Amino acid sequence: MGNVCGGSGKNHVSGDFRPSSPGTMTSKTSSSVTTSNSTTGKLSSVGSSFMASSGSGGTSSGFDEGVGVYPEGQILEAPNLKTFTFIELRTATKNFRPDSVLGEGGFGRVYKGWVDEKMNPVKSGTGMVVAVKKLNSESMQGYEEWQSEINFLGRLSHPNLVKLLGYCWEDRELLLVYEFMAKGSLENHLFKKGCPPLTWELRLKIAIGAARGLAFLHASEKQVIYRDFKASNILLDANYNAKLSDFGLARLGPTGSNSHITTRVMGTYGYAAPEYVATGHLYVKSDVYGFGVVMLEMLSGQRALDPNRPNGQLSLVDWAKPYLADRRKLARLMDARFEGQYNSKQALQAAQLTLNCLAGEPRSRPSMKEVLEKLEQIESMKSRARDTRGSGSSRDRSHGRTTAHQRSSPRPDARRGSRTNGHATKAR
Ligand SMILES: Nc1ncnc2c1ncn2[C@@H]1O[C@H](COP(=O)(O)OP(=O)(O)OP(=O)(O)O)[C@@H](O)[C@H]1O
Ligand SMILES: [Mg+2]
Repeated sequence: MGNVCGGSGKNHVSGDFRPSSPGTMTSKTSSSVTTSNSTTGKLSSVGSSFMASSGSGGTSSGFDEGVGVYPEGQILEAPNLKTFTFIELRTATKNFRPDSVLGEGGFGRVYKGWVDEKMNPVKSGTGMVVAVKKLNSESMQGYEEWQSEINFLGRLSHPNLVKLLGYCWEDRELLLVYEFMAKGSLENHLFKKGCPPLTWELRLKIAIGAARGLAFLHASEKQVIYRDFKASNILLDANYNAKLSDFGLARLGPTGSNSHITTRVMGTYGYAAPEYVATGHLYVKSDVYGFGVVMLEMLSGQRALDPNRPNGQLSLVDWAKPYLADRRKLARLMDARFEGQYNSKQALQAAQLTLNCLAGEPRSRPSMKEVLEKLEQIESMKSRARDTRGSGSSRDRSHGRTTAHQRSSPRPDARRGSRTNGHATKAR
């Protein structure tokens, strides 16, 4: 069923089911250190008892400001979600059959399901496809994240955020129902064995879509900090439009004159910003660092963390930074699977932008609005070139401008097909 990159992936889940990931990122701050508004970052109640019982009836003030800036986005007064019964979701996913599995994360499996326009379960292959995330019911450790997903994603609406359609909470069963993203995660496309490489144009399109989603989150007066920006949380629809998923770790940003919130260190090794890992201080710009890491993964075709790389190259950022900064070295960093089919001028600017996003100091990083503008500029360089150069396939055109490198990369090809060992692990 499905294609291997679209996340139908039996091989994706095999032998890697773990309620809490090994290599969990431990909190460097004393546990549950909070300040300002770190844990009050919940939005207004959805009117369900679980909200009241968790004491999370936060205010939404300031949360709506982004709408004016990003008219295509919307923040709903209250989540408009369907409450599913467990039996409905069991039926929709053919009893959570293994061949319906789309993928698996730290909290459980994601299944393909079928519903009609009223969200009632229907026979597989009919109606509309949805993705059903079933949290591992042996532990309730994902409860807070599940709740945060409903609070944030249930109210945020934007073309570059995955749409949450509903949820189920029965006894110990916690489930979430999303729009189905036909091409699966960016992580699969970049790193899964058997996935054809994404072209330069598609990577740029994906970067722009993801940047738009993140810029929307950051645009409200009390910004939303996403905190878990990584390739597996960027999902792709049938046309490779990127949408952010997984708001389990999202928080409202600092208030007043505060520059950051302080919170338990959670997130994913390799993507989390250094200041956050070191101190628990979470800035809006901590997300920009994560964006830089994903940009680097897209440019290089290498994972943020990979123990299969030679000594000293475990962390992509650490070893790749000098390549980003040097015009002559950049070609050796670029994904060999491009086979030279990228525009080197665009690549150089994208590398510079990536480097800026990876700045050690949060305030030295660009805002996501600036990142988005720069990426759009980079994309338009291409179309301007296309306008002046006349016809011909884009592959041919970009090929002519490529720096000669391709297969001369100094590093071994450490790409892996499974997400076991080197997968950046999430702190729980
Ligand atoms: N809406 C969706 N449509 C299609 N596939 C999806 C959808 N949501 C998730 N998936 C698939 O399921 C996989 C697992 O997603 P999930 O968010 O549970 O975990 P993850 O992001 O890989 O890891 P983590 O638990 O660290 O966030 C994704 O990588 C993707 O392949
Ligand atoms: Mg995820």
